[in-house]
Amino acid sequence: MAEETRFPDGFLWGAATSAYQIEGSPLADGAGPSIWHRFTHTPGATRSGDTGDVACDHYHRWAADIELMRALGLNAYRLSLSWSRILPEGRGPVNPKGIDFYSRLIDTLLAAGIRPSVTLYHWDLPAALDDRGGWLNPDIARWFADYAAIAFRAFGDRVPMWATLNEPWVVVDAGYLHGVNAPGHRNVFEAPLAMHHLLRAHTAAVRLYRAGPWKGQIGLVVNIEPKEPATSSPEDTAAAERAHVYNNAWHLDPVFFGRYPDGMAEVFGEAWPAFDPESVAAIREPVDFVGVNYYTRRVVRHDDAALPPRATPVPNPRLVTMTTGWEVVPEALTRTMLWMRERYGSVPLYVTENGAAFADPPVTAGRLDDPLRVSYYRSHLLALRESMRQGVDVRGYFAWSLLDNLEWSSGFKLRFGLIAVDFATQERTIKASGEYYRQVIRTHGESLAAPLPTA
Ligand code: FCB
Repeated sequence: MAEETRFPDGFLWGAATSAYQIEGSPLADGAGPSIWHRFTHTPGATRSGDTGDVACDHYHRWAADIELMRALGLNAYRLSLSWSRILPEGRGPVNPKGIDFYSRLIDTLLAAGIRPSVTLYHWDLPAALDDRGGWLNPDIARWFADYAAIAFRAFGDRVPMWATLNEPWVVVDAGYLHGVNAPGHRNVFEAPLAMHHLLRAHTAAVRLYRAGPWKGQIGLVVNIEPKEPATSSPEDTAAAERAHVYNNAWHLDPVFFGRYPDGMAEVFGEAWPAFDPESVAAIREPVDFVGVNYYTRRVVRHDDAALPPRATPVPNPRLVTMTTGWEVVPEALTRTMLWMRERYGSVPLYVTENGAAFADPPVTAGRLDDPLRVSYYRSHLLALRESMRQGVDVRGYFAWSLLDNLEWSSGFKLRFGLIAVDFATQERTIKASGEYYRQVIRTHGESLAAPLPTA
């Protein structure tokens, strides 16, 4: 059994974070505000008014955090750059101190034998660009490419793996449709336009990277969430199909096929614009990899009153559920990876996020026992291994997250870390799940074969 759970040599074992969620000091050393800085300072926008002003104070504690990555045995780390640290106004003059911060971080990671996997955009758009329309302004593809060029020139000699955008679907669904994420819009007509310009920006950055001297890989990170109908009725079946196309194919089809999936007009109805087919076709551009963020799958039923895609989740009270309300369904990760290969072919895949928020007990005598999270990691890594056994080309896995951090508008209460953070003292404690992951990494996955003790 242990042999069967072993992962290939060269597999990346990582953990992921994002700039606004961990760094703190968002305006330090000449940085400009981002839309998340603005959003968290808007009364009522986040749980308990939590902000990223301090967060995990990673901006000052990054060297100690790299030591913790070493302690876990990670050979890769997925981070994101704050666009407005590098370009305080989003365009125009570069802030050298922003470049220096990431440069030191990248050098120290490399010296520790940890590969940096850098995401250019993890949701923290410079506020100055939002003032010009943000993702609704067609010029943003150029603004993003100019920013990407600065990042490639500064770090491209050292960074082997780049992602353009993190989860364009969440940017649009949460930021422009439901208004729960920055910039907090609730406008069904904006959503298709925002996605279009996100994808144009992605492709512009990929082309620019390819035209340069850099030798790394560049790809896109998406969240994939399989959908199942609550009943076999034609209405629920159609609702699940709409939800699937909306969540999983809307963003990837243009990148791979140069067109939006057929079902999009049905998802958005009159809000679906008549895109110029050439502008959609121009999004098509091969990527070196796709990063898949997987947390859960969703069972849905038809609901005409719900925003696009007119589907409402139907919870299953018998399943273990995270504090986010997400149900734990590891076998849906296997299906996700098989679906990716079936629809998009043999492009190399990484799991760029996977993890779970549970209500952790307090740290006692330097330990934190989080058996549900341990079990989540074990079952999902086994599910991933199974997709590889069935032939899917998976090159690495990044746990979400290295540290407990600011879970966006849900604040600090939702804890996803392998490492607990006491936000009053900034003390870090490796959780039992972190110890478990360390053991998995050390044994190349062989330790996954051992069953967990039952509580
Ligand atoms: C993903 C985000 C990440 C984190 C996890 C829980 O959608 O990319 O920043 O919030 O969810």
